[in-house]
This record gives sequence, C-alpha cells and structure tokens, in this order.
Amino acid sequence: MGGDFPDLDLCHYVSDAQAILSEDCNDAVHILYPHKLARQADLFINGFSGDSLYAIKSNPHVAVLKILWTRGIRKFEVASLREVEYARNLLPEAELFFMHPVKSRKAIRQAYDLGVRNFAFDGLEELRKIEEETGQADDLNLLLRVKVEQTEAVYPLDGKFGASLQEAPLLLQRARKPAGKLGLTFHVGSQCMDPHAYRRVIEEIALMMKETDIAIDMLDIGGGFPVQYPGMEPPVLDDYFGIIREAVHKAGMNDIHLLCEPGRAMVAEAGAVAVRVELRKGESLYLNDGTYGSLFDAGVSSWSYPLEVIGADGLPKTGTQTHFKFFGPTCDSLDVMNGPFPLDETTQEGDWIIFRNLGAYGFAMQTRFNGFYSETTVSVDDGNR
Ligand SMILES: Cc1ncc(COP(=O)(O)O)c(C=O)c1O
Repeated sequence: MGGDFPDLDLCHYVSDAQAILSEDCNDAVHILYPHKLARQADLFINGFSGDSLYAIKSNPHVAVLKILWTRGIRKFEVASLREVEYARNLLPEAELFFMHPVKSRKAIRQAYDLGVRNFAFDGLEELRKIEEETGQADDLNLLLRVKVEQTEAVYPLDGKFGASLQEAPLLLQRARKPAGKLGLTFHVGSQCMDPHAYRRVIEEIALMMKETDIAIDMLDIGGGFPVQYPGMEPPVLDDYFGIIREAVHKAGMNDIHLLCEPGRAMVAEAGAVAVRVELRKGESLYLNDGTYGSLFDAGVSSWSYPLEVIGADGLPKTGTQTHFKFFGPTCDSLDVMNGPFPLDETTQEGDWIIFRNLGAYGFAMQTRFNGFYSETTVSVDDGNR
C-alpha cells in the first residue's frame, strides 16, 4: 500500500466493498485500517502516563505489529514462547514482557536466551522456575501478578491467575533479591466498562504497599481498556487515562514506572472481518466463518458487533431489518451464533456481512478446523477510518 505505511505487504483498497469484490476470496476477508490503528497507538502513547505494551495475542498480524512499531510502540506483551520468537524475529529491538504467569521451563530458558528479561509470576513455584531456568540471573525484572475483582469487566479473566493481595507481601519479599526491578501487575478483565475499577485496584495496592516495607519499581495495570460495541458504551479512553493518572498520583506512586498492556482497545476498531453468506434458510444464515474461526466471541460469548451488509454487487444493504441467527461453516453444531443479529431483511446468499470492531480476538482466534480459515488480510483507507 502507499501513503504513510509503505512496507506492509498488503493489498490496499479505498473501500471495504472494493476490497471484498476485488479479492473474490473463498474465505472470510480480514480488513485492517492502518490509519485508525496509528491513531489509537498515538492515543495510548500521548494519553497514558507510562509505557503501553501491546498485547500481541489480541492480533498478531505482521502488519499490526509493524504499524505499532512505526508509531513508537516499543514494548510488547507476550504469552508463549512462540510469541517471543515471533516478536523477536519481526522486531529485534522490541522489549518483550513474558506475562503469562505459568510458563514451561523450556519457554523461560529460551525466552531468556532470546533476551527477555521481564517475567510475570503469581506464586513461589513459578518464581523458582524462573530463577532456576535463567541460572539465577541477576538481571531479571519480576512482576507479581495479583488477583483483583473484575465486576466491571464484560469479559472477566479472574478464574485462573493471580496471587491474592494478602499473599503479595511475602511473595514480593521473596522476589526482591533476584529482581533487578520488582513490580506488580494485574488485569481488571477485558472490556472493563468503568475506569474507577483501575483506581480501586491502585488504591488497594497502595494500601498493601504501605503495610509492607518493600519498594516496587514497576506497576503494570494490564489490559482491559474497552471499545464500543452495540449495547456497550464505555467512557472514552482519556477518562481512563485521567482517572489512572490521578490514582497513581494520590497513591504516591509517581516515581514508579507505570505500564499498561492494551490488546482490544489498541486494535479492535482498526479491524473488521467480512464473511460471506453461503446459504439462507428462513432467518438462518450459513456463513464462511464461525466460532472455530474469527467469530468465537460472537457465538460462544454472545458478543455483539456493529454489522453491515454489502450485496454481491458491492452496494450496501440498508433496508428494513430482521433478526437472523448465524451458522459457521464447520460440521460442529457448536458452530452457531444465536444473536439475534439485525440485518437488512433481504440478506441472501452471496452477500457479505462486515463485522466491525473485530480487529481484536478475530484473526487471532482462528483454528484450521475443517479447513476453514482465512489468510487474506487487506488494508483499506477510505479517508474516514
Ligand atoms: C496478561 C494480559 N495482558 C493483556 C491482555 C490484553 O487485554 P485486553 O485485550 O483486555 O486489553 C490480556 C488478555 O487476555 C492478558 O491476559
């Protein structure tokens, strides 16, 4: 594509319809809006009063990482050895934060050999693994993941990881010695609808720190920043940044290195997935993508997305709506999305449905089950996105 992002190696179009028709693709089409992604990166870089690490899991596409790097994102959150290797290859200068609280010994060892120094842990056992597999290295930055309440998150992530705040002082004490830098990290849950959730956790952490005698160097407030979806109207990101800044200030933590790990809020609005209708049976539409592909959240989590229909002639269908149910392409009866999804009532075979704000956890979630997946990503710049 031309313009500001010369080396993305993607076919570039001026509209979604042009992209879909020109690609004439048998699979779904992933659409990336580079300018929108660049603006979102700028928002985090200029608005958040610390460093923003991009959570690669939310969309690991090469073009996404390249655009973020071009805009100045230099730190990345990785969950697996594969993500470490991938990011290291693509962006050799990037600083990686291995934030999965349970890593294989091999992953720890190889990540360290590949230059990773930032590791999360949430218990003594994982801390020991990190120490042993890095040969008792003295240049580790260790972040203790603590478990926090996630009542404001549409997609809570609290079932699995995190030490309690009561356990934290002992674990911090234990990690202080091997840690070049010591930190705390938490995740308020994905799509957190209330910025005060971050404030409350920062206050709780400040209280816990006051009662202990251990200084921390880093506070990583995780991801969770939200995006607009139908039925979900969160406050704007600047409100989140402002409330977090104030909470950090009030907690007397101005000298602590602040970090965040946006995935969804960085990339969701900068992407869309166009799926084709293969068959209509009454109010059921059979699609070429589903819950084993980019539409996991649409089905399993009953997540709503802004939807648009583009007819096989490339024209939008914006007439009277009716409610549809979707089926994905695999043989599995779990490959269903009950919705109901409001679309133009004439939607039929050959039409394309565009799922907007699916730049996060769409492309990334695809399996190859039944041979249905899409490797087609294009970029669109229509002047508005
Ligand atoms: C450790 C960690 N950081 C960051 C993220 C990104 O979260 P979000 O997409 O809500 O911003 C996740 C998501 O699962 C995560 O597990």
